[in-house]
Amino acid sequence: MPQNALNQSVTLNNGVAMPIFGLGVWKTKSGKECTEAVLSALEAGYRHIDTAKIYSNEEDVGKAIRESGIPRKEIFITTKLWNADQGAQKTRKALEQSLEKLGIDQVDLYLIHFPVTSKRLDSWKELEKAYQDKLCRAIGVSNYMIPHLTELLNESNITPAVNQVEFHPFLNQIELLESCKKHKIQLEAYSPLAHGQKVDDGQIASIAKKYGKTPAQILIRWAIEQNIVVIPKSTRKERIVENANVFDFKISAEDMKTLNGLDENFRTCWDPSEVA
Ligand SMILES: NC(=O)c1ccc[n+]([C@@H]2O[C@H](COP(=O)([O-])OP(=O)(O)OC[C@H]3O[C@@H](n4cnc5c(N)ncnc54)[C@H](OP(=O)(O)O)[C@@H]3O)[C@@H](O)[C@H]2O)c1
Repeated sequence: MPQNALNQSVTLNNGVAMPIFGLGVWKTKSGKECTEAVLSALEAGYRHIDTAKIYSNEEDVGKAIRESGIPRKEIFITTKLWNADQGAQKTRKALEQSLEKLGIDQVDLYLIHFPVTSKRLDSWKELEKAYQDKLCRAIGVSNYMIPHLTELLNESNITPAVNQVEFHPFLNQIELLESCKKHKIQLEAYSPLAHGQKVDDGQIASIAKKYGKTPAQILIRWAIEQNIVVIPKSTRKERIVENANVFDFKISAEDMKTLNGLDENFRTCWDPSEVA
């Protein structure tokens, strides 16, 4: 497969290759819905799945990966530490339980799901130990804003490899992106379709028409053009295929400028002002 295809990857700050594109499975129901979505994605060429303990579908992700027959080492799996499991006492156990549910010995990326005040630094220390013990190939954070990253960088021995945050043209967090780049933290865009709420946007549709692409493909390609890892979710086979069909075109500098101008601080998920 050529490097401009679905296996295109970024290199994390510890040298691990992470596919730039993957399938998200938040709100994908445990059972048939999840195993079928993951199997459809793997069949379409996806090699990266993003789950979390709180999604309650780690077992289904693991099952689908085994059923696919694709060697484990060819698939990049991310899971996340849930808030209730944070802290020095619970973090390691939560990771071990996630590994057991997934049916694997080592996860490719383990993330702190949210920066829980008063627990996040202790949780990070546990992630550092787990990384040293080779339970994770890389460790990172999610929903960290600049102050959370600054705090962590001052206190940690290992710089997080990834920060997974909501990111799309309507929530274009340029300062956060620049800060991540400066510290060699890979930005990963969650809810790249604004949780499905911007796939009918007129401005995206008119750019999409120019390229003979769908609005979802423009939103996904916008992230890839900036070397941002992107993990759209769908449970529908045809959309899973559609969302992956973003490696045969480029968005012009002029259209990137138009897309970059759409920011309206539109958050569909978590408002960082609600957590210290
Ligand atoms: N770390 C965090 O705190 C966090 C938070 C949110 C999300 N995430 C991760 O990021 C992933 C993606 O984010 P997300 O699930 O919030 O939203 P998203 O990927 O932005 O959008 C998903 C929604 O768009 C629809 N959709 C998918 N492809 C489409 C297409 N081609 N055309 C029209 N509609 C389409 C889906 O419906 P159908 O399924 O019916 O196709 C679903 O309703 C999650 O699954 C999760 O893995 C992480």
